[in-house]
Amino acid sequence: MEKTKENRQVRREAPGKINLHLRVKGLRADGYHALESIFLALDWGDTLRLDAAKGPGTCELFRNCLLPQGELPFPPEQDLVYRAAVLFRAKTGFDRALRIELDKRIPLGAGLGGGSSDAAAVLLALDQLAGTGLSQAALRTLAEALGSDVPFFLSPGAALVHGRGEELAPLDPPENIRVVLVNPGFPQDTAEAFRLLDLERGRGWPAPEEPEPGTLAKALSGPPVLWPYGNDFLPLFLERGPGEKAEAYRSIILSLKALGAEFTGLSGSGSTCFGIFTNGGAADRAVQVLGGEWNFVRVTFPLARSGNAVLQ
Ligand code: C5P
Repeated sequence: MEKTKENRQVRREAPGKINLHLRVKGLRADGYHALESIFLALDWGDTLRLDAAKGPGTCELFRNCLLPQGELPFPPEQDLVYRAAVLFRAKTGFDRALRIELDKRIPLGAGLGGGSSDAAAVLLALDQLAGTGLSQAALRTLAEALGSDVPFFLSPGAALVHGRGEELAPLDPPENIRVVLVNPGFPQDTAEAFRLLDLERGRGWPAPEEPEPGTLAKALSGPPVLWPYGNDFLPLFLERGPGEKAEAYRSIILSLKALGAEFTGLSGSGSTCFGIFTNGGAADRAVQVLGGEWNFVRVTFPLARSGNAVLQ
């Protein structure tokens, strides 16, 4: 961070995440679903640079789209980055002229938490820039108002997650694994995925089994091949989703297994699939093979809680 009297700048990395496990429980009175999930932050993601100068309390957002599609499909004012800055101003009275630059690498509608991570990074950066020193509780309240996954990114690592996404119990991230991400090239709308799940459950689609207490957290330190994890959206999409999407997910998961993944899954409500590898050569080979076929493929590592640098 650089600081001068008139002009202050902060740079922050906004890591992506995967859900190693995602069970959707009942629909709550507030319209959200109760979740049981394991989040794992990755050492790869977006980058934000914030610059606050003396002047009117304006906010300019410049987005460098480094994604295969080239353009972001909504205006800056609808971006969670912008909304996080506006919310921070409203709650703290921070009134400097703000310029934010975002390098966008995490695909949209991908289940990798890109927008949520960006929003959390903005809250943390502005707290630093403004010198507000907000408490963890105050930051969490702002984060929750921006989205269910945002609180996790205030302190990204690995966590057992309950509630609508805000009840977080930190876990030790697994060591010596590589996470190969494969995005099929179509986005998935989160609300639409939850609606499909509710609809099909209303027609008899089975609800998940309750795990033995404590087993989920404990399994994370064991070998991936024994992880008792699953994602409720994946079998739903495979059986009841649109044909081309089901075909894409089936093909990616089968290929990852054939290429040596010891665990495979879908992140969030899609659309990114992932394979967990303990063998680095096998992970690199999977990237090489699948990269020729799918829109977005890369190898990543878990982000250590103590913060190994986020790769770009
Ligand atoms: O909180 P967020 O804005 O990210 O959620 C997007 C949508 O996903 C919500 O409007 C809701 O339809 C659905 N959702 C849910 N239960 C959760 C999280 C999200 O139903 N725990």
